[in-house]
Amino acid sequence: MKEMLKADQITFRYAETGRPAVDGLSLTVRRGEYVAVLGANGCGKSTLAKHFNAILLPETGTVTVEGMSTADEDRLFDIRQKVGMVFQNPDNQIVATVVEEDVAFALENLGVPPDEMRRRVDEAMRMAGVYNYREKAPHKLSGGQKQRVAIAGVVAMRPDCLVLDEATAMLDPIGREKVMRTVHRLNREYGITVVQITHYMEEAAAADRVVVMSEGKIALEGTPTEVFRQVDRLRALRLDVPQAAELCHALTQAGCPMPDGVIDVEGCAAALYRLLTGRDAPDAENAKEVAACPQP
Ligand SMILES: Nc1ncnc2c1ncn2[C@@H]1O[C@H](COP(=O)(O)OP(=O)(O)O)[C@@H](O)[C@H]1O
Ligand SMILES: [Mg+2]
Repeated sequence: MKEMLKADQITFRYAETGRPAVDGLSLTVRRGEYVAVLGANGCGKSTLAKHFNAILLPETGTVTVEGMSTADEDRLFDIRQKVGMVFQNPDNQIVATVVEEDVAFALENLGVPPDEMRRRVDEAMRMAGVYNYREKAPHKLSGGQKQRVAIAGVVAMRPDCLVLDEATAMLDPIGREKVMRTVHRLNREYGITVVQITHYMEEAAAADRVVVMSEGKIALEGTPTEVFRQVDRLRALRLDVPQAAELCHALTQAGCPMPDGVIDVEGCAAALYRLLTGRDAPDAENAKEVAACPQP
């Protein structure tokens, strides 16, 4: 798979005397990949994210977007178009008084011809699931709907990569779920590369790869299973693990023979079924039913 983003030994400091916010970090994100970035507050996640579309430039090292250096001013326009950013607060990202105008805003600034603009805005609103609200006022929408309007605005630019910096942090569970579904669909069906910074372990568990940062460096990296089985290590980094992984870890420590590397509810339910009945859970659907059973 081709490289989408590449940070090579980058260091960034906000003030010359300060400790680096990003400290000699290297990370490659492949085209089409879905990478989650975790880490305690202040560990440098947002600083790293801002390097991916040249909002910040590294003090040492290089960042490339499909091979283009973010330090190359001639490529700034291309880079910003390839890598779209979505931030935490939806209210700060809304600029127009009607949804479809908001989605069109950045395109208008690019000077895209009206016909093509109409097509791209409609397509982006459908892709982000906000087409039905297109004539509404953004401030009347829920947080999750507003975030999807922001995503539509970015998608209208036809980016190859979306960087979401805690884009679900201010949303209620339903808004979060819908934004997550939208982002996963953009990744799966449209091949858009995703870098998602999140505090929610369940969101990270659904990524292809999880990167855990600590003090400006990568502390841990791997598939969700590889990362979340390291419960003690994650706790030392002041992070949680998905609840299912925590339960399995506690049961293992208490002497129950739980399998290694269970990180989601379905897997946990299937393992408990096996433990309690001595048989395999008949199928995944059944595992879901077991998971949904009320506790006695
Ligand atoms: N604009 C800024 N000016 C000075 N220091 C900052 C600024 N933004 C972040 N920092 C500092 O840089 C470090 C990393 O911050 P940040 O990248 O925002 O971390 P995270 O997103 O993981 O919470 C922290 O110590 C933070 O206080
Ligand atoms: Mg941050």
